[in-house]
Amino acid sequence: MRYTGASSERSSLHMPKKTFAQTALLATIALASIIAAAQQPPVTLTIHADQPVSPVSPTLYGLMTEEINYSYDGGLYAEMVRNRTFRSDWGGVNFWYLVEGGNSAAKMEPDKGSGPSSALTHSLRLDVEKADAQNQAGVLNTGWWGMAVEPNSEYKGSFYAKSSGDVGPVTVSLVSDDTGKVLATATATGLSGDWRQYTFTLKTAAAPASAANHLALTVAHPGTLWLQLVSLFPPTYHDQPNGFRIDLMEKLAAMHPAFLRFPGGNYLEGDHINERFDWKKTIGPLVDRPTHRSPWNYQSSDGMGLLEFLGWCEDLEMNPLLAVYAGYSLEQEHVNPGPDLEPYVQDALDEIEYVTGSTDTKWGAERAKDGHPQPFKLTYVEIGNEDTFDHSGSYPERYAQFYKAIKAKYPELQLIATAPINNMRPDVLDDHYYVRATRNFQDANHYDKADRNGPKIFVGEWATREGAPTPNMGAALGDAAWMTGLERNSDLIVMASYAPLLTNVNPGGLQWDTDLIGYNAEKNYGSPSYYAQVMFGSHLGDHTLASKADGASAKFFYSITGSAAKKKLYLKLVNAASTPQAVDIDLEGTKLAPKAKLTTLSAKDTQATNSINRPEFLKPVDSSVTVTGSRLRHTIPQYAIEVIEFDEQ
Ligand code: AHR
Repeated sequence: MRYTGASSERSSLHMPKKTFAQTALLATIALASIIAAAQQPPVTLTIHADQPVSPVSPTLYGLMTEEINYSYDGGLYAEMVRNRTFRSDWGGVNFWYLVEGGNSAAKMEPDKGSGPSSALTHSLRLDVEKADAQNQAGVLNTGWWGMAVEPNSEYKGSFYAKSSGDVGPVTVSLVSDDTGKVLATATATGLSGDWRQYTFTLKTAAAPASAANHLALTVAHPGTLWLQLVSLFPPTYHDQPNGFRIDLMEKLAAMHPAFLRFPGGNYLEGDHINERFDWKKTIGPLVDRPTHRSPWNYQSSDGMGLLEFLGWCEDLEMNPLLAVYAGYSLEQEHVNPGPDLEPYVQDALDEIEYVTGSTDTKWGAERAKDGHPQPFKLTYVEIGNEDTFDHSGSYPERYAQFYKAIKAKYPELQLIATAPINNMRPDVLDDHYYVRATRNFQDANHYDKADRNGPKIFVGEWATREGAPTPNMGAALGDAAWMTGLERNSDLIVMASYAPLLTNVNPGGLQWDTDLIGYNAEKNYGSPSYYAQVMFGSHLGDHTLASKADGASAKFFYSITGSAAKKKLYLKLVNAASTPQAVDIDLEGTKLAPKAKLTTLSAKDTQATNSINRPEFLKPVDSSVTVTGSRLRHTIPQYAIEVIEFDEQ
């Protein structure tokens, strides 16, 4: 463009002088022709609002999560203490450091022989040689890349401890890394030679909001102190104990998710059978949870246990979609179908009973004991995860064994297969897609001709993978194009969930590129793909409508759904081209309000994106468009995703 301007300036040197009006007119004509040349020819979009085509699943959009990228620990799960159970390796007890104030002296080391429960049989031992009130000794924890502290807030904590010698009370403090200033402090008294839990509350005053803080536990007398399960929570979503980060839950709520697929993903399977998500070890008091290794190469605290997942569903009014371990782990370990698999099938039956059973069942009573007498509603159970990767070929038989046992007790449950099988017809098949944007542009009609007599489809994991740690605008366009196909085929596709959902953006926090939402201890942001999800998830009718697009380029996509109950029509438009796209829309067979709400997410370049320091560089913008009768001439900007919400009168 700049070159064109320079050349026209050069040629004007040889032109006779013109009046101001003539020059202005010529400039206007030139500009109009440049714009016209830059644009695609108009698309004619004809929609018949009185001709429903197919139903749209009310559960189409949901969430898929697992312990990856510090999604729970260091993410959604609001625990501020990292390595609260004092696991150690060759590098020592990670994320814990010695505090020796003034001339105090102490040493710390892991104690493998003493712990407060049969799940936590080890602890941290602190031997204090010298300490007094002014020169305290102890340990500090650095949190998940810091600890976010807000002014005038309350932090609730606890720890298990025992002592030998009179170490006196334990002082617990939130301390600024930058200034060493104590932001809040509390004391726990009455330590003895027996393990006991101590609770405390830390209240901040007018401290500046920052993540550069740590937690210290110190004593003022020589002696020995053993510590285990040191925990600290900020205010949580819905004020739930052992709960979730408020900011992240609000981000998720804005997506209007209809279901939650949990606990994974690879996280369900583990690298090895003994590293699977063993749900019975994730329920009850935290002190009874041994923790386990995630296949994403770090230890999971299991603070996010089965009941916490269900609580998350309750908080966001999502249907639980429970994935049960089905006898395959990632390092090509599998359990043979038949008697060997029986204990795993029984585990799944027990798990379903824990979720849905009344309090007079064994596992329903256990759930009540854990604080939730009310059973949860469950419709879908997924048998395993990505079992196509099981090279033994045992999945069809494993699926069948689970199917038979679960259906015998719970005939109403819909059982999802994670790989195509030919020995029986599963209720639902889980398809996964991790692709580039171009593939989604070419494949947006993937399900248009799919067999309607086979199993229903769950697109349990999908994403356009462009951009890291979170997707860019190019990826969001690929996502949006793909979602128009999901909506058009939602008579077949009962559910779909983008993956992965969350990532901690600190160095070392990421195991998988292109995650929907990024965060650190203090802040979060939604990627352009996140906003595409919000736009699609918040504007969904219950049926598709007959429609036709003439003159559409290979980078133009749309979806039209209607809600009879709400008297709304939702038109989603995607222009993945670098130039604007005019659309002549004719919405026949209904009477429309003259103003319609338009929401636009657009960028100047596909590489444009959001980040932790530029969280809203791209975000949807609301405006309105005017409808004349049934018609609307609308121009979609370049690289844009739009929703037009029409009111029917
Ligand atoms: O979403 C990341 C991983 O991708 C999931 O854990 C797994 O199911 C898939 O391969």
